[in-house]
Amino acid sequence: MQIGFIGGTGEEGMGLAYRFALAGHACVIGSRAIEKAEAAVEELKAKDAALPITGAANAEAAAADIVVVTTPYSAQEATLPGLADALAGKIVVSTVVPMSFEGGKASLLAVPEGSAAEHEQALLPGSTVVAAFQNLSAKKLLKGGPLDADVVVCAADPDAKKQIMALAEQIKGVRGVDGGPLSNAKLVEGITVLLVAINRAYKTQAGIKITAIQ
Ligand SMILES: NC(=O)c1ccc[n+]([C@@H]2O[C@H](COP(=O)([O-])OP(=O)(O)OC[C@H]3O[C@@H](n4cnc5c(N)ncnc54)[C@H](OP(=O)(O)O)[C@@H]3O)[C@@H](O)[C@H]2O)c1
Repeated sequence: MQIGFIGGTGEEGMGLAYRFALAGHACVIGSRAIEKAEAAVEELKAKDAALPITGAANAEAAAADIVVVTTPYSAQEATLPGLADALAGKIVVSTVVPMSFEGGKASLLAVPEGSAAEHEQALLPGSTVVAAFQNLSAKKLLKGGPLDADVVVCAADPDAKKQIMALAEQIKGVRGVDGGPLSNAKLVEGITVLLVAINRAYKTQAGIKITAIQ
């Protein structure tokens, strides 16, 4: 399966591309600038030259089978409408957390649609948006080695949700958890703001695990 990343040159896009490429998927790191995408690919290939990762413009990454949005929330409005036709009929994964940092403190931004994922769905009416991976530390993804974390997946479409839960489980040490409808994405996005404070207090890269489910 080919997986494209819109704004894939940041830590989150690179970290997920690294893990999905390790699982054997062809990953396309998208960027507004092809040189930046190529530099990101070079950095990942320095870990393992055989990784199936290429760099491209965002529009080319949008042609992949599944597309993951890894831009900041503030970039969605300008970035996604131009890709709506290319993304129609596909699963689009939102990893985005609408967060601001002021005076070193993280806060969740109010999103008129409810969450960054629902904003994405409004901008991409022909796509099936699935919210996932917001609580995984990009630094840990990039570092390598097994994780010990759940990925809560929210979507309106049950089949798309199952597909992304299965994709999450291809990252070693990750369990996909059904988080219900896309409207629950705001709760999952909010947990990331909490994790930022926990990370600061405990000087770590924390994740979440849901108890009492098989
Ligand atoms: N970092 C984490 O640990 C983490 C964990 C969970 C979720 N997330 C979420 O994942 C997303 C990406 O996080 P990140 O830390 O990788 O972010 P980032 O480094 O700030 O941004 C990722 C990429 O987005 C593109 N971008 C930035 N501003 C843009 C703009 N105005 N218009 C279009 N593209 C723009 C840039 O790519 P080009 O310049 O190459 O186009 C940039 O490299 C965020 O929404 C974040 O909330 C992050």
